[in-house]
Amino acid sequence: MKDQDITDLSWDDFDELRDPRPDDNAFDAVVDRAMSRRGFLGGVLAFGSGAAVMGAGVLGSVKSAQAQTSRFAFTPIDIATDFDIHVPEGYEWKVLTRWGDALFSDAASAYSPVGGVDVSMSDRVFGENTDGMELFTDGDKEIIAVNSEYVNPKINLPEASAGVPQSGDEVTMLKNLQGVTVMEVAKGDQGYEVVIDSPYNRRITHETVMTLDGPAAGSDLMKTNADPEGMNPKGTMNNCGSGRTLWGTYLTCEENFNGYFGATSPVEGTEAHARYGIGGEGRYAYEKFDPRYDLAVEPNEPNRHGWVTEINPLDPSSTPVKHTALGRFKHENAEMVQANDGRVVVYMGDDERGEFIYKFVSNGVYTEGGSTQGLLSDGQLYVAKFNDDMTGEWIALTPEATGMSLTETLVFSRMAGSKVGATTMDRPEWIAANPIKCEAYCALTNNKNRGVKPNAGGDATPVGGPNPRETNNYGQIVRWTPAGEDHGADSFTWDLYVMAGNPDVYDNVYGGSDNVTSGNMFNSPDGMAFSSDGMLWIQTDGDDSNEGEFAGQGNNQMLVGDPETGEIARFLTAPNGAEVTGLCWSADKTTAFVGIQHPGGSWPDGAGKPRSSVISVWRKDGALIG
Ligand code: FEO
Ligand code: CA
Ligand code: CA
Ligand code: CA
Repeated sequence: MKDQDITDLSWDDFDELRDPRPDDNAFDAVVDRAMSRRGFLGGVLAFGSGAAVMGAGVLGSVKSAQAQTSRFAFTPIDIATDFDIHVPEGYEWKVLTRWGDALFSDAASAYSPVGGVDVSMSDRVFGENTDGMELFTDGDKEIIAVNSEYVNPKINLPEASAGVPQSGDEVTMLKNLQGVTVMEVAKGDQGYEVVIDSPYNRRITHETVMTLDGPAAGSDLMKTNADPEGMNPKGTMNNCGSGRTLWGTYLTCEENFNGYFGATSPVEGTEAHARYGIGGEGRYAYEKFDPRYDLAVEPNEPNRHGWVTEINPLDPSSTPVKHTALGRFKHENAEMVQANDGRVVVYMGDDERGEFIYKFVSNGVYTEGGSTQGLLSDGQLYVAKFNDDMTGEWIALTPEATGMSLTETLVFSRMAGSKVGATTMDRPEWIAANPIKCEAYCALTNNKNRGVKPNAGGDATPVGGPNPRETNNYGQIVRWTPAGEDHGADSFTWDLYVMAGNPDVYDNVYGGSDNVTSGNMFNSPDGMAFSSDGMLWIQTDGDDSNEGEFAGQGNNQMLVGDPETGEIARFLTAPNGAEVTGLCWSADKTTAFVGIQHPGGSWPDGAGKPRSSVISVWRKDGALIG
């Protein structure tokens, strides 16, 4: 495959290219078996070949949805297929900031509709492809930290480049438009706007110097020619979902870092390279212009990425910290909660087909205003095992359990998880914890390889547990309740909050769970966040063709789910081509900030290039929205 074609692939299809193991089932046979597994909508769910038939409890309390009075404050909207945003009657939206918009007045001319972003100002503007986002306050100031997950080279580079950088400058620009933006926002007569030149404003890119902490910091696996101590990596990349600490800092999560590395001359592949999809040519040809990305020069550089990185959004001179204690994988987001004894708990998903869900538990306890030293560097990493009987366990990734050194369990967490028999999941995306009840939800976005093909480590991916459908193109949301209503517990019970599907096309398991109807259907749940009233906001990143098995689902969307009744209602539709990702609220909860990533057409400008943007959404009557 030629370079220019690689840049057109989705991240998960790029990983498939790196993991070309032949399918172990014929597709037709898989579909036949799944189609014959009828009865789900009648309240009986059959698990994979040879497994027991289980009762309706797998779908939790959602079956009573239709009987409840709606708790939604809005009238759900219809699907859309156009290149615009739609919100319910009584609500309004506007763009807060777009790819290329200046954070500082000296970069006011950085963006032009024809040329895109000028390289010389590319680290002083809002980046491309907005993702995870959190809002912080400092007195009466409001500060948003927000990820720019990746860049689309064909949008950013001159047409002649065909999506492949032709110079060091072009690589620099692509690198600068990823990473993290910290920006002050303020509410004026026209709603929220970015405060240009605010002292809080900051860009964090591939070039920002960071520190490592935790057990793997300074280990041989972290040492490079440029950093022989293995303590000061440069940059954070492919920043996907987010989190916030109890002490008010931002957690940015490094997801598809593997695609940025390539080899200019042949290098010997390792088991870890295979598991993490590292090797061959890089997705963006960075290795041809910057030796840091060249596996032939810096074989350990990829080990310094794939972490949860902490940023103090209130101090622009602070040094970001990569926390090795939280494990290295394709981090989606990091949802921090507290155990009943005060320890810090962080739930994390690894977004690749057949990978795992993790949890970190600190050794120390957090008290408001107390020291946070060591809370994200000293603790235990666990991986989830889901049983078919709707129970589950957190298995500690210790050297005893894995046969690996402590450093290896953290740098190669996927391999450690495989050693202890963790459950292969249908691409874990965001995890969100209910603020008013002890439970957590994980969006399992989809997995066309479920029951078809092992994961990149060779672990089987049988149908069963919270991954009940072969060739799962719709996705589902699993939730768990920790034992003793304590996030620090080693065990839990689980059910499925929703199985997405298309009841107009299928009358079997692919029709979805009972809380999916013709009027609210969607595919590929991804971003999730709870509002303070305990409602679950669900964002999608799926097939928006509105055709075939996706007919009637329209563009990607944001829905609101009631955890108690299972009812789900559509709140927002995105422009065609876009996914909806990233959500936070203003301090007064009157405004929601929503990320619109990789839009199509010429959204939002109406002409020229499409521009990934953050929008604000509010009620015209000024009532609370979050
Ligand atoms: Fe960056 Fe898994 O989404
Ligand atoms: Ca995502
Ligand atoms: Ca996704
Ligand atoms: Ca995506």
